[in-house]
Parts: sequence; C-alpha cells; structure tokens
Amino acid sequence: MTRKTPETLRSARWFAPDDLRSFGHRSRMMQLGYGEEDYRDKPVIGVLNTWSELNTCHAHFKDRVHDVKRGVLQAGGLPVEMPALSVDESNIKPTSMLYRNMLAMETEEMIRCHPLDGVVLMGGCDKTTPGLVMGAISAGVPLIYLPAGPMLRGNYAGKILGSGSDAWKYWDERRAGNISDEEWLGVQGGIARSAGTCMTMGTASTMTAIADAMGITLPGASSIPAVDSNHQRMSAACGRRIVEMVWEDMTPDQIITAGACRNAAIVAMATGCSTNAVVHLIAMARRAGVPMQLEELDELGRNTPLIANVRPSGKDYLMEDFYYAGGLRALMKQLEDRLDTSCMTVTGKTMGENLEGAEVYNDDVIRPLSNPVYHEGSLAVLKGNLCPMGAVIKPAACDPKYHVHEGPALVFDSYPEMKKFVDDEQAEVTPDHVMVLRNAGPLGGPGFPEWGMLPIPKALIKQGHRDMLRISDARMSGTSYGACVLHVSPESFVGGPLALLRTGDIVRLDLPNRSLDMLVSEEDLETRRKALVPPEPRFERGWGWMFSKHVLQADEGCDFDFLKSDFGKTAGEPDI
Ligand code: FES
Ligand code: MG
Repeated sequence: MTRKTPETLRSARWFAPDDLRSFGHRSRMMQLGYGEEDYRDKPVIGVLNTWSELNTCHAHFKDRVHDVKRGVLQAGGLPVEMPALSVDESNIKPTSMLYRNMLAMETEEMIRCHPLDGVVLMGGCDKTTPGLVMGAISAGVPLIYLPAGPMLRGNYAGKILGSGSDAWKYWDERRAGNISDEEWLGVQGGIARSAGTCMTMGTASTMTAIADAMGITLPGASSIPAVDSNHQRMSAACGRRIVEMVWEDMTPDQIITAGACRNAAIVAMATGCSTNAVVHLIAMARRAGVPMQLEELDELGRNTPLIANVRPSGKDYLMEDFYYAGGLRALMKQLEDRLDTSCMTVTGKTMGENLEGAEVYNDDVIRPLSNPVYHEGSLAVLKGNLCPMGAVIKPAACDPKYHVHEGPALVFDSYPEMKKFVDDEQAEVTPDHVMVLRNAGPLGGPGFPEWGMLPIPKALIKQGHRDMLRISDARMSGTSYGACVLHVSPESFVGGPLALLRTGDIVRLDLPNRSLDMLVSEEDLETRRKALVPPEPRFERGWGWMFSKHVLQADEGCDFDFLKSDFGKTAGEPDI
C-alpha cells in the first residue's frame, strides 16, 4: 500500500503553493483563527453533519460532532464541520425521498470543491444514509459513515412501543373505537422518547446495518443506541480512524466492491429489512460501479433466513435489545459462511477479522440459523403483467393466507380518493378485495411517498380484519407491515400497466412463484392502452421539475440518470 505524503494530500493543492490563489486560501484560514500549524501537512477532514432542529433523529449530532472532532485532532488532522441537507422523515412533506438525490448531489459537490482529504458522514434517518454515501462514493475521497444510532425503546403504561409499527397498530385500534383520547396521547408521548433513529428494524436501522455490512462504518457501530456513551466513544474513534485512512489512501472503491454489496444485501435480508433497502442498496451499489439487480436480491431473499427477531418482521424485540444481544457483529457472525469475509473495511482489516470474537448474548433476539424467525429472508421480488420491471413484498410481514390470493381490484387514482373510501364505514368491501393505489411512484407521488401500507377500510376493521392484499407503485415505511405489494415498476404515472387496471378486474398474487398479474386479456389491455391519456406533469419549475426529468424507476434505485457512475466522466480536480 502506498502511503500519502504531506505533499500528495489533496488539501495541499489549496494550501501549499506559493501563489496568489493559495495566499487567499491561507489568509482566509487565518481569518478563522487557524495558523499554518493547524492545517499544513495535515489531513483536513470534513465532518458532514446532517443536523437540524427539525431532524428529531439527529438531535444529538450537535454534541456528537465534538466527539468526532476530538478524534480527528488526537490523530493529527484538522476537522471542519460542514452542514449537509438534513433530510428527515419526521417533518418533510410530501416525502423525504424527493430529496435523497439532492443530499447526494450536495455531498458529492461539497466534497469536490473544498480542500478535504477525507470525510466522516454523520447520518442515520432513512434517506441520509444512502444520500451521503452515494455522493461520497462519487466524490471518491476516504470516508467513514457514522450512524446516528437507534433511539431507546418506546414505553407507555408498562407497554413497550416500537417506532412506526405501534403507531399504525394503535391507530387501527383508535379507528375501531377501542382506545381513549388519553391512551392515544400517552402513546404519542411515549413512542419517541430519546434522540436517535426509529428503533424498529425500519429503513434507518436497515440502511445503517447495510453501511456496517459494506464495511464503511466501524464494526458494529450501527447497533449502538444514540444516547449510549459507547456512541460518543465510537464517534471519537471515527475521527481518529479517518485520519489514518487518509494517510493509507483508502478510497471507497477499495471497500465498496461487488462482494461488499452482496454482503450488505445478505445482512439486510437476515435482519428483516425494510423494502426501501432495495431501492437504496441498488442506488449505492451502482454509484460504486456494481450493477446490482432486483433478481440478485430476490435470490438472496429466498436463501437467507431472517434471524433478527426485531419488529416489524420479528415479533418481540427492538434495536436496543438487538444491541444488548451482541448487535450487528453478532448477527454477521451467524452468517459468516455466507459472506465474503475477505472484503476490506474502513478498519484496514477484512470483514472476517472484524468479526473475530463476536458473540450472541441472547439467542432469542439474534437467532441461530437453525431457529430462524422466518425461513426465508425479508423480501421477495415479483414480476408479471402488472409489474414487468418488478415489484417487492415482505412475505414475513404479511398474513400467510395472502401469499397466494386472487380477488377483485378496488382501484384508486389518488390518496384522497382512497382515504375517503377507507373512512366510509358503509363501504362495500370484503377481505378478498385487492386495494390498489396508483399515481404514487417516483414521478406520480411525486417523489415516491411511503403510502404503500394502504389503511384497512374502516368497514373491515369493525369486523375484526387487520390485513388484506394491497398493491401500489408507492413505497412503504420500513416499520410498516401487512400484505402490501410495493414499488410496482414502471409506475402508472409514466404509463406502466398498473395504469390499465380497472375496479373489478381480478388480480392474482402467487408469492411462491413470484408473480403478480391482472387476469385481463392482452386484447383488452391493448384497447385500454390506446385510450390512456398521459397525466399533466406535476412540476413546471424548480427541483421538482429537475427530479421529474431525471429520476429513474425503482428497479434502478431512483438515482438521477446523469448521476450514474457510467453516465460520463466527472471534471478533474481543480487546478487553480
Ligand atoms: Fe428518522 Fe425514522 S424518522 S429514522
Ligand atoms: Mg421510515
């Protein structure tokens, strides 16, 4: 391995030359109070912080950044905190997914245009992990990902509450008239009671586990609860390690290989991952030049048992329990024979070396392969005349009676239209009906909102039903559950076959055979296709317009076409 020298540091191009431009850079560093001894011949480390006062999951980042900086200074680097777009799930409308690519673009360009030798990426709330990582991969400087960590278990009146999952559950009970206003307020106050990301195995926990399994976090960092003091020490360790990585010139292409992406997918399947993981993992892998496909994920889904007994796919536990049971390293240890343990990681050691000594402390939380929560992994990919480019479903999170199902479609063109129906106690609907929501995909939503767990109609709730087959071109929250087919591609808004479906058509799902079809003749479909009127564009200016022009469909990870690694060359490094 060739080590960097002070002269070959990227930041030296800004600070070292005896010319007017560098005079400007140095005099402005002095304006900040830094003398040359602070930054000359030292790695400058960007600490990209996605903190904001509305990002509830990153509330501790304002403190944590000091721990990272402490580590960087200890190792002889200069840390510089830089704010990055704080894409949060909790307060962004219409959906945070509209802004993942904005964070990715900002991250890439912010790294490229500044005198940074390496970066610590501080994220965790759903879209921040893929957004930061996608951008930093394209920028190509050494990186470490620092996961925000899950919040503490929820608690109300002696009951443990899980992010998202219990909100949906109690909401259904409230709609059925089974819980009081007081109880509802109690749940509201108890379900999110510390800084940190959702503590179910939702999208946040899945994505940080993916980053961990890819080798871009310190080993096991993704499992540490946000407010545990181990999290502070891990943050400082990230600061120390990134400085060394700069000297070792350990760029992301040495870590995020095909093997690392496959490891990440296997681990995601074993954790009971969020369906959103599919979209983000494909996008991240493709930035690294790894052409990950839905088919590969389906194959891994079929062959990887789900062994993390964490809600919503698992029954009993939450992320705090997962950490105490040994965390992600312990889970990965169970899967060691299936992983490519030769993959290099940010520690400078292989994945196999990082897993040495990892142990499970509670085998009901992290199950052995011989006693899985579910015999297959978390996700299945469907194909058929409703979704020629694919759709996904979470088999373990739905009532098995819907695994093979045929029923008449109830089609809704918009969320408000569907909402009106589900709130109508007199609505004519049976548990055999298949509820369908369209115009909810990447362009139709717009922004691919998490509407895919369509609410069960009140009329059925009152009869005691809690699941039914639902289909949409939307995503769903990683904390959701139920017989929900998601990410139907291509989406209806761009003329995908979902646009041709009509109320009353029979829809057939055959999960064991991975198919989803509408039982309508090709002739009829052709007639409907000809009659289809393209919808008005959602945006005429601004970010939304740009998003609509360039976003790819779900099966390609919803990256922008012009950001794909094979789109073309990036301009070289600045030479002025
Ligand atoms: Fe931030 Fe769930 S809202 S992780
Ligand atoms: Mg979420």
